[in-house]
Amino acid sequence: MERELALEIVRVTELAALASAPWMGRGDKINADGAATSAMRAMFDSISVSGTVVIGEGEMDEAPMLYIGEQVGSMNGPEVDVAVDPLEGTEIVAKGLNNAMSVIAIANKGNLLHAPDMYMEKLAVGPQLVGKLRLTDPLELTLKKAAEALNRNVSELTVMILDRVRHESTIKTLRKVGVRIKFLTDGDVAGAMAPAFPEAGIDLYVGSGGAPEGVLAAAALKCLGGEIQGRLMPSDANEYSRCVQMGIDDPYKVLTMEDMVGTEDVIFAATGVTPGEFLGGVRYLPDERAETHSIVMRAKTRTIRFIKALHYLPNKKFIQS
Ligand code: FBP
Repeated sequence: MERELALEIVRVTELAALASAPWMGRGDKINADGAATSAMRAMFDSISVSGTVVIGEGEMDEAPMLYIGEQVGSMNGPEVDVAVDPLEGTEIVAKGLNNAMSVIAIANKGNLLHAPDMYMEKLAVGPQLVGKLRLTDPLELTLKKAAEALNRNVSELTVMILDRVRHESTIKTLRKVGVRIKFLTDGDVAGAMAPAFPEAGIDLYVGSGGAPEGVLAAAALKCLGGEIQGRLMPSDANEYSRCVQMGIDDPYKVLTMEDMVGTEDVIFAATGVTPGEFLGGVRYLPDERAETHSIVMRAKTRTIRFIKALHYLPNKKFIQS
């Protein structure tokens, strides 16, 4: 893939973020998501790829656009797999909370895991802990190993996890071991990426979240030099056979970075909708301008660009009247 593509796709996440930001705090996650999805889909036509959506808004019969299998792009560029989440954290935007982003990852065709829509158990770390931990270890041991590798006491670790009832026993263990916990309300792509940003002050991301979000996080962490390990959590026979249909022969196996993103030729872009651990949200400024904060990265070169853009929105084009 041409490196210029990175700068092209960030325009797509910017537009989706600008489209959903007016819905911030309006208690309407459906319209917030719809606005981001329509904007992202429209903008994709101008991107120089022959893309196939492998992670998107759902199956063809349940999503009007950016559905799995949809062809996107100008069809004048390389054949690529496209993973999108036009609005990662719909509830966050509805409630006006932190960490909502618009996200895209693009990789050479056949290299992104077609993750079924179910939960995935996750363990994500930044560069200092790559290769040092195992998802299959008991959590106490993982924390001990992490503390040793970082040359700190376990009590000096900070762990991020989604605040969910299903995490009750994990949270009990974290409390017992004595780490600091930073709870996420939603948005675990940002949560899993956070350990790769020293300024976020998060050492590990643990717990279960969406499997598609796991693959998006894997693409980001490949560019950031971090790591995520995942394990699908099919809840019944239907979900199990869905994994198999999607080409995952052993749904219970631990998925490595390579399993989720099988190439270095991957590009990731995200634009903040609301403020988060490493990105600012959309801010409206005087003179019909809006400011966006994005990150765009390529795994091949490991270049990480933070892009602050000032958009001119005459007649408040993207702002709901
Ligand atoms: P949506 O943007 O689709 O609402 O997802 C938000 C999210 O928090 C994801 O980041 C996360 O992976 C998933 O939901 C967790 O699911 P649940 O809310 O069921 O715990």
